[in-house]
Amino acid sequence: MAASEAAAKVQEVREVTRIERIGAHSHIRGLGLDDALEPRQVSQGMVGQLAARRAAGVILEMIKEGKIAGRACLIGGQPGTGKTAIAMGMAQALGQDTPFTAMAGSEIFSLEMSKTEALTQAFRKSIGIRIKEETEIIEGEVVEVQIDRPATGTGAKVGKLTLKTTEMETIYDLGTKMIESLTKEKVAAGDIITIDKATGKITKLGRSFTRARDYDAMGPQTKFVQCPEGELQKRKEVVHTVTLHEIDVINSRTQGFLALFSGDTGEIKSEVREQINAKVAEWREEGKADIVPGVLFIDEVHMLDIECFSFLNRALENDMAPILIMATNRGITRIRGTNYKSPHGIPIDLLDRLLIVSTSPYSEKEIRQILTIRCEEEDVEMSDDATTILTKIGMETSLRYSIQLITAANLVCRKRKGTEVSVDDIKRVYSLFLDELRSTQFLKEYQQEFMFNEMTETEQMETS
Ligand SMILES: Nc1ncnc2c1ncn2[C@@H]1O[C@H](COP(=O)(O)OP(=O)(O)OP(=O)(O)O)[C@@H](O)[C@H]1O
Ligand SMILES: [Mg+2]
Repeated sequence: MAASEAAAKVQEVREVTRIERIGAHSHIRGLGLDDALEPRQVSQGMVGQLAARRAAGVILEMIKEGKIAGRACLIGGQPGTGKTAIAMGMAQALGQDTPFTAMAGSEIFSLEMSKTEALTQAFRKSIGIRIKEETEIIEGEVVEVQIDRPATGTGAKVGKLTLKTTEMETIYDLGTKMIESLTKEKVAAGDIITIDKATGKITKLGRSFTRARDYDAMGPQTKFVQCPEGELQKRKEVVHTVTLHEIDVINSRTQGFLALFSGDTGEIKSEVREQINAKVAEWREEGKADIVPGVLFIDEVHMLDIECFSFLNRALENDMAPILIMATNRGITRIRGTNYKSPHGIPIDLLDRLLIVSTSPYSEKEIRQILTIRCEEEDVEMSDDATTILTKIGMETSLRYSIQLITAANLVCRKRKGTEVSVDDIKRVYSLFLDELRSTQFLKEYQQEFMFNEMTETEQMETS
């Protein structure tokens, strides 16, 4: 397989599998650091937690330099103090071309593959291979697209595409496949496009500056570009980043590249991996590819067991290792698979290899800022009083609980046809949904009525 072939296949899969939704961390757009890597109090959806964000920024710099392999860091702190959020911020700050894999410690306990296979896949998903290739492209401004439907109503469509640069203009005949891609990309006169000659792939670069006054033909994010100069046909160096895992899957005879769509890749034979490693080494020597160490983020890392930790120790010493970031909210606890206790449930020998960053609880002001950002993210209007009450709730229960109430309160508000969430809406959902403390209280009071009541008589006496 050639490097360019691998890149093309992976690109194809990625285009089909992109979805965006509002999730727990979708308001996080980066780490919110300035050029000197100093954290701003509120920026890019991030609030406070300055020390941890500063530390995360330093690690980010390390990753961007790309020279150090196999460094690891642990974010430790109480529940709801933004550990996962900071990791997500790092992912955003790294951008598209640095692989970032996120997984939860518990994910490795799957029946489909062994724990070490799951970890190996996660490691290889986090190593990027930057593939450089020269391709022939046609680049120009669309003067006219003309598509003719056959007069008989059946048969293939035919058409013509007129492209120009500042110096020349040419008419191309279009086949069915090209017509389809032009329609799919909604190419119109005035667009600047490139056509990859080998694959026929069309990419829209933007609208021509000469069309800057055609207001009805643009959306809010229209990008304007200059009409290209010189020849219509040119050679261009393009760079794609694919991951080692993606190359493994494409070459795995049992799975084939379709497995990338489903994510259902099963175990990959070690021979395949050895071949790929050799291939990549070859590409590197020929100057066709570079290695981009990315990030593997393992959340809830205390869920890993001793075998996994030992695997991590070894894997970090490989020269193709990514940067490993872990997070946990556990204190001194048992290491899974042993009877030993250890800080964060992580063996001492692994802890010794880690840079440890800790997060601390938020102030009232910070909770309010986070809640305000979440309201914006969820498109919820909330009155000042309601925000104040919700902040109080956040202080007394948990940040997460108060974030959840935003969505619920907004539904209640909409049901009464209100436009702004009021104090009453908050009160209502506060009584509808229990937080952890009140739920525990409730269970203690009514435990007789539940199945599997495991409290002893004396415990019951104590709590009532
Ligand atoms: N500093 C912050 N700025 C903006 N949003 C934050 C910040 N910290 C936390 N959040 C948001 O609060 C919620 C809880 O935080 P998060 O999930 O990151 O906590 P955690 O430390 O990972 O907790 P756990 O230990 O339970 O996994 C998330 O929706 C997160 O995006
Ligand atoms: Mg978390």
